[in-house]
Amino acid sequence: MNLFEVALAARENAYAPYSGFKVGAAIRTRDGQVFGGCNVENAAYPQGTCAEAGAIAAMAAAGAREIAEVLVVAGGDMTVTPCGGCRQKLSEFSGDDTVIVMAGLDGERERTTMADLLPGRFSVTHLDGEKHD
Ligand code: THU
Repeated sequence: MNLFEVALAARENAYAPYSGFKVGAAIRTRDGQVFGGCNVENAAYPQGTCAEAGAIAAMAAAGAREIAEVLVVAGGDMTVTPCGGCRQKLSEFSGDDTVIVMAGLDGERERTTMADLLPGRFSVTHLDGEKHD
């Protein structure tokens, strides 16, 4: 499945009445499954969720845990980039080599890796050796 097509289709269903900024995301897992997500806003603004979070939730609900690639798509001249919170959320299921693709409605514009997107990322390895009493 084409990540751009999946993310674009998810974006069509974005619920963004407050920002007017529709975002779609698609994840490919290391075993080849694909999951889409869109942003879902809320009248109580902080309760809104990003497209990446939706795709991660769909992936986790299916029992998948390892992200090989994620694509994010939005409109506008400036290329969309995952917010700080989503970088950390994606990091949980990513390797340093996980590919992050940023796309406009016209297609892919930029790509990077998890290691470059969130340098010095905090992970479960930081929890080792500091267990609860
Ligand atoms: N948003 C995403 O869904 N993903 C991103 O990577 C950036 C921002 C959403 C959150 C909010 O619904 C809207 O875009 C405006 O910030």
